[in-house]
Amino acid sequence: MVSKKTQELVQADKEHHVHPFWPVGGEVEIVFEKGHGIYLVDTEGKEYIDFASQLVCCNLGHHCQEVIDAITAALDKLDYATSFFGNTNVYAVELSQKLAEITPGGLRYFYYTCGGSESVDTALKLARGYWNLKGQTGKYKIISLYDSYHGLAGNSINATGANGDFYQAPFGPALSPGYLKVPSYNGYRSMFGDAPDSATWSARFREQATQNGGATSIAAVIAEPIFGTAGGHVEPPAEWWAMVSDICKKHNILLIVDEVMSGFCRTGKMFASEHWNLKPDIMTMAKGITAAAIPFGGVAFSDEVYSAFEGKTFTHGFTYTAHPVSCAAAIATIDYYLDNKVAENADSVGKHIEKHLETEFLPMQWVSQVGGRGLFQAIELVTDKKAKTPISPEQSRFLRKKLLEKGLWTRFGGAKGNRLDICPPCTITVEEAENALDIVKAVLTEFNPSEI
Ligand SMILES: Cc1ncc(COP(=O)(O)O)c(C=O)c1O
Repeated sequence: MVSKKTQELVQADKEHHVHPFWPVGGEVEIVFEKGHGIYLVDTEGKEYIDFASQLVCCNLGHHCQEVIDAITAALDKLDYATSFFGNTNVYAVELSQKLAEITPGGLRYFYYTCGGSESVDTALKLARGYWNLKGQTGKYKIISLYDSYHGLAGNSINATGANGDFYQAPFGPALSPGYLKVPSYNGYRSMFGDAPDSATWSARFREQATQNGGATSIAAVIAEPIFGTAGGHVEPPAEWWAMVSDICKKHNILLIVDEVMSGFCRTGKMFASEHWNLKPDIMTMAKGITAAAIPFGGVAFSDEVYSAFEGKTFTHGFTYTAHPVSCAAAIATIDYYLDNKVAENADSVGKHIEKHLETEFLPMQWVSQVGGRGLFQAIELVTDKKAKTPISPEQSRFLRKKLLEKGLWTRFGGAKGNRLDICPPCTITVEEAENALDIVKAVLTEFNPSEI
């Protein structure tokens, strides 16, 4: 029996609160009240292992005292100050110095936002603005991938390529001109049927897009280092990034690497770009930058991009750009990552999980593929391994409910919505990860898709 307090909260929420990706006016399933470590706790006192770090953002789990202390100390000193009109704040300066030490490819200039979509919007404006400043005003097109996710704001929604036009269709058939999509590198669910080498296909299409659109019209390519939840945490084939980097160089196209989900220890390195030694012109960040304790994001850019803007005014900004409290949170979060070797933990626990997935989960009847890297992994669930039939939305809802009953919170993603996220906080221990995997295994063992 649900308590009166929870019932009242659910009812009030239904009456006044509209949610993302949930039927408008529908009742919510859980009311969270607090969190600690890898756990979230609802108003009934029930604990859930947060096995997806919510939206793959709570990289330090919940209630990290060091970050809380930094936020409260900053609030106590400087609750807000603008970074417009020649002003800055001490936290923004310190954060920029810190980021310059850890961002890949020698990126050392930073612009701050309130989250991932704003970071991508900013990055796309930077890329177009760069070519404008170079006098190449016809170079405005943006190439992204099917299966990608880059956010849902004004510019970023145009680059997002996941689920066909699922995110764009409700708001008009073509939101903005100048956005080209090329095929995903996901070889397991290739857009070319059984084409064995979708990496080559994808890169060739990219080449073709630059030729058809004319390299003189392409401003930038944007891609996640590894697909996030929308793309199912599928890693590119080994040679993919080298091919894409070469194409960009050859055609004089800027490379934007979207590290919003993969950055800050998630894949076992501070940034996933490090796995391929990427040298982006522009890089986006959010989520893990404050481990989601407070909304924040940023964009890093190269000396070359910076030099085009130097001395000019970048006509772009938000009220909360470089918010001091968010900057203070980011400083404390990065310090925590470095002091506690969080990336190393994500790498070693991730490898442990990988072994479990390959030896114990992959042989299971409903698991057809596992993949990802670090604590950025997923399990592909099907009802027929040979036919690769994805579990249905009803079946994934059923599984999610069963997992919640057993105290584990996660979500499904991927092109077919059938890949179960294995993305716990980057501080998770081996023992905690094993307990969580035991829950997933128990639920999958009991699962009988023909009954749902
Ligand atoms: C790679 C990537 N880019 C951009 C975004 C958008 O971020 P936000 O939801 O903070 O706007 C996301 C969100 O999941 C993401 O994963």
